[in-house]
Amino acid sequence: MKPALLLLPLILILCKLSPAQNSRTKWYDNAVIYEIYPRSFQDSNGDGIGDLNGITQRLDYLKNLGIDAIWITPFFPSPNADFGYDISDYESVAPEYGTMQDWDRLVSEARKRNIRILVDFVLNHTSDQHPWFKESRSSLTNPKRDWYIWRSGGGPTQPPTHWTSIFGGYTWTWDPKTEQWYYHIFLPQQPDVNWANRDLRKAMFDVVRFWLNHGASGFRLDATPYLFEDPAFPDDPHPPAKGGPAALMPYNSGRPENHQVLREMRKILDGYPGNPVLLGESSTATIQDLAKVYGEHHDEIQLPMDFLFGNLHKLDASEFKKQVDAAELQLDGQPPVLFFSSHDHERQWSVFGDGTHNDQIAKLTSALTLTERGCILLYYGEEIGMGTMSQSRLRDFPLGPKRPVADERDGERTPMQWNTGVNAGFTTGSPWLPVEADFPTYNVASEEAKPDSIYSWYAKLLKLRHDNPAFRDGSYVPLDSANPHVFAFARKSGDKLGLVILNTSPTEEAVTITGMRGVIEGVWPAFHLIQYAPSSSPLTQKLTIAPYGVLIGSTN
Ligand code: NOJ
Repeated sequence: MKPALLLLPLILILCKLSPAQNSRTKWYDNAVIYEIYPRSFQDSNGDGIGDLNGITQRLDYLKNLGIDAIWITPFFPSPNADFGYDISDYESVAPEYGTMQDWDRLVSEARKRNIRILVDFVLNHTSDQHPWFKESRSSLTNPKRDWYIWRSGGGPTQPPTHWTSIFGGYTWTWDPKTEQWYYHIFLPQQPDVNWANRDLRKAMFDVVRFWLNHGASGFRLDATPYLFEDPAFPDDPHPPAKGGPAALMPYNSGRPENHQVLREMRKILDGYPGNPVLLGESSTATIQDLAKVYGEHHDEIQLPMDFLFGNLHKLDASEFKKQVDAAELQLDGQPPVLFFSSHDHERQWSVFGDGTHNDQIAKLTSALTLTERGCILLYYGEEIGMGTMSQSRLRDFPLGPKRPVADERDGERTPMQWNTGVNAGFTTGSPWLPVEADFPTYNVASEEAKPDSIYSWYAKLLKLRHDNPAFRDGSYVPLDSANPHVFAFARKSGDKLGLVILNTSPTEEAVTITGMRGVIEGVWPAFHLIQYAPSSSPLTQKLTIAPYGVLIGSTN
């Protein structure tokens, strides 16, 4: 009898005992979405700033890497108090990034390569230079006065509440002309809009339709917890220390009113073909709160980012397991959205690296996300091991209040490192942020040529995720490694099983893998090794795994 047939009874038991197979079919449920900070990705016209045509030039690179969609951070006209997150016109392209024709060409070229594009929708606030706000602040009786949040407080020296903005200082700025305060959870140059106003809401939804009509496959929604405030504006009994970080407060984050807006927005998307998606910047304090962001009837944000995972800062198998298990068990079967790096986060190479084994640790952390169920976000350059630049306070918040150096975000926004040429191939001009000094080693061209590079590892994992049904759409099955430094789990789709074992410690570790209610032991002989870093090792149920080692197996 063939070995596969010998295993059949065990496989049948397995099918019965493990969690239901993931039967979702939407493109985004297991997608890999690649975040592009357009200013830093590829400059096509030598002005030192990346642009939409630069992204179009690099679509083949993205296709070959194996990503499904790109999320482009804001490329709309903006005074750049917060580099694009202060929008002064939602329905056009800022000249430094190109034109609407460039956008249309990008969409059509991306489609040819089966790559979808998500637009960053900054819906909580506009720029103070947006015509809506200019009108709103022009008089107490302007029809757009109520499009923003205005209160009198106790006059020019007494803000309505002592709430602290996420970027420091009060959430209120006094407007001398109309003698009222306006509300902003971020910078004073980013006034919050009033989602309770139906006209504002309609205008914002028109923006949604505008980009869907122009070929967007959905939106990354900025700052979704902050759309509403408690209408009573109660004062904060424990305001954070002056200049300290804002606390997530019940009266200005995660308000119940958010749900209605997100449901209405989702309805608009559902009216379009191709399953457009909402990817939410939806940080929450607990996994239970994160579950609510999908909507009571899963009719709100399809992909809320899991910041409980994304904010993990310690390379610790037990912590990773805890967060992944929570996402698997407590999100009602919805796809988790896992990530480590972003334009707001120090890059994972720098966060988790120990200075000696950074490259291996980059392979370990990418194996952790790219073999998981759900939607995975990659940040441009993580696939070549770009680190966080140590120089800061160069460009971020040139107009805003001074923040602690640790919070500056220039470090993770440096130009993409394409090759060993001038400016790493990013621009022929003078780059808007310096190129990291390590680019002669960490760049696409050099790493594509090396089979053991970080780039080649990412490309292999992405291929595995696409080609192997267990890793593509299999359910997550927790396993026990009998070692707190080793995180082990399986993925299962029909009779196909994938296996992942990750050692987060700097020492060799002994493990014994058990789980799936004792059934995995029987299946063990069928596993074969498909990926291993740092060097090959036999795959048995009791094994030793190298420092920061990654073992990936499969039953077929
Ligand atoms: C979240 C964005 O990711 C961040 O970059 C921005 O500064 C704030 N929202 C304000 O829009």
